[in-house]
Amino acid sequence: MHQHHSAHGLIQALSPVEPVTLVRPHAARRAARFFIERFPGTTMYAVKANPSPDLLRVLWDSGVIHYDVASIAEVRLVARTLPGATLCFMHPVKAEEAVHEAYFKHGVRTFSLDTMDELQKIVRATEGAQDLNLLVRLRVSSDHSKLSLAAKFGAEPEDVAELLMATRQAADALGICFHVGSQAMTPHAYAQAMERVRAAIVAAAVTVDIIDVGGGFPSSYPGMEPPPLDAYFDTIHRSFESLPISYSAELWCEPGRALSAEYSSLIVRVEKRRGEELYINDGAYGALFDAAHVGWRFPVSLIRETASDEMTAFSFYGPTCDDLDHMAGPFYLPADVKAGDFIEIGMLGAYGCAMRTRFNGFGAEETHVVSDEPMVSLYTGEVEQERRSATVTKLF
Ligand SMILES: Cc1ncc(COP(=O)(O)O)c(C=O)c1O
Repeated sequence: MHQHHSAHGLIQALSPVEPVTLVRPHAARRAARFFIERFPGTTMYAVKANPSPDLLRVLWDSGVIHYDVASIAEVRLVARTLPGATLCFMHPVKAEEAVHEAYFKHGVRTFSLDTMDELQKIVRATEGAQDLNLLVRLRVSSDHSKLSLAAKFGAEPEDVAELLMATRQAADALGICFHVGSQAMTPHAYAQAMERVRAAIVAAAVTVDIIDVGGGFPSSYPGMEPPPLDAYFDTIHRSFESLPISYSAELWCEPGRALSAEYSSLIVRVEKRRGEELYINDGAYGALFDAAHVGWRFPVSLIRETASDEMTAFSFYGPTCDDLDHMAGPFYLPADVKAGDFIEIGMLGAYGCAMRTRFNGFGAEETHVVSDEPMVSLYTGEVEQERRSATVTKLF
């Protein structure tokens, strides 16, 4: 991979005609260290957020050894890339063949489920294995999150007791997991979900060995600035400590977004301006799926030496022929943006770069490493600390 300090340097050197992905391994390293050091339990990376092997290796080198995988392709990818990793198959609906291969070929011992049918499937596919960690996924509210995960998965309160009791019989370790929805904007989301967990444990009267609070940990985007992550960790820890579980019970989490969002950004070129609409060379079928389909506002910056001080709200059109390839924004940029300009779009490390297609022949292929800071960071305290210790190192 090529290396530059920032988008500026890269544009001066290359003036890229195609979109270019920028990656910041130092940002992913910082996020991973934050979770490893501060989350009061085990951190698994949710691979779906960004399955780049380079990112997986950065996380591994930073101490993340557990990985939440959702498909047999993700199982194979992580097993191949990080042979020592512990894989947890946390999609509650799996192909029986996938469970069989995961268990017998890749050593996966942890599976989630939300129905009796899925429990029976896992028992069949693992040929009645006695060494399984089985986590029952509860349906919890996504009210405090920007992307709901409340409709598709999760056992209903009235079915949970029976399912927990049956799973206890099949499991070596029994767990309960949930997902509060992605980009949870308040720690209260977790406290509320933990009350569901408490009710389920009381109703089933079973011994629970693992509580997995899932993903949902936020990143920072324009108009979506969450409280510090430590506030989430404190709330989760307090709720966990008050649950009726054994003293040795484990606490797990499965962040995707919070570990990967700051890893990547994208340089795009403006091909045309029509009023306050900019036609850029990446879009809904590229890394900007969420900007198009759920109105996500990513941070943007015009990469030019001098520009107007006046800021204007723009929307973007992507490069394909579809009207759907439209990102409403608003994206605030200097008023004099014009065709030929380059824009950096930040925070695309989670569910951005991972969702690209080659529709209409468009899509970024080239990736460059840069060493500057991401456009926004949730780990600002850590950025400041690193800056200070770099200054101290220089002084001595
Ligand atoms: C089971 C599971 N775990 C973890 C995640 C990661 O969530 P997030 O990126 O919001 O942290 C997801 C996202 O869909 C998920 O489905």
